[in-house]
Amino acid sequence: MTQPLQYAVFGHPIAHSLSPKIQQMFAQQCSIELAYRAIDVAPEAFAATVREFFARGGAGANVTLPHKAAAFALAAEASASARRVGTANVLTRRADGTLAAHNVDGDGLVRDLAERHRTDLRDRDVLLLGAGGAARGVAWALLDAGAQTLTIVNRTAATADALVDAIGEPARVHARYWQDLASLGSYDLIINATSAGVLGADLQLPPSLVGSRALCYDLTYGPAAVAFLSWARAAGARYAFDGLGMLVETAADSFALWHGQRPDTEPVYQALRAGG
Ligand code: ATR
Repeated sequence: MTQPLQYAVFGHPIAHSLSPKIQQMFAQQCSIELAYRAIDVAPEAFAATVREFFARGGAGANVTLPHKAAAFALAAEASASARRVGTANVLTRRADGTLAAHNVDGDGLVRDLAERHRTDLRDRDVLLLGAGGAARGVAWALLDAGAQTLTIVNRTAATADALVDAIGEPARVHARYWQDLASLGSYDLIINATSAGVLGADLQLPPSLVGSRALCYDLTYGPAAVAFLSWARAAGARYAFDGLGMLVETAADSFALWHGQRPDTEPVYQALRAGG
């Protein structure tokens, strides 16, 4: 009997990852047999553990916090989106045994917004809260999708400035101070890319940020997204969404890189939403 193809997600912590379940649902849909497991590895052991996984026949891996920068550094080759972000969330083994890195976070967000939530980014002024790894992962893709302007606000101003400089589009992309949030006016698309929800910390956002047709989106899902989405609804947002759809879309992009076909994400998204 031949072994099924081996895949994994590396993270720390990783116990509650939905990725194994999502990949198995996609595999079933596409009649592909595969093994996909969650591997908890501390940062100091990441590189050696990943190398061993691939040396023993691993075909592909997802990488999540806190290893995305280390994953990028491990790869011999990287896609354009991984290079500009400087991190990777997908690794694939190439024929010569070396690794290729991809970052599909930004495309996953844009696809969830455009296809699931029917949001055309082309006439949007976007407010991006946070300038850490999650914010970097989506900033370029929002601009590629046509966002009219991107305003990046971070508690630590220097990090927002550095991201704005790295993007290098001064006509469309600006940094503003966190303490000036109340005087910024309103936005039609507000993306929470801070880790405040994950950390259980208070974000303290003024309701004046929320425009009358605003869509507010948290890149996290589950309990971590609750505080931001409650704030958004109380502030009058027309729509408030968590990042579950983005997770499913990025998983589908990973699957497509590994198997050459993109599964239908909607039944998987609906099953997860229903708690299945
Ligand atoms: P991630 O990979 O989840 O983005 P990160 O790179 O550590 O994690 O970035 C966390 C982001 O959340 C940062 O923008 C951080 O702001 P600072 O650069 O000032 O640290 C932001 N953040 C975390 N807790 C926050 C809070 N309570 N209020 C506002 N911003 C917060």
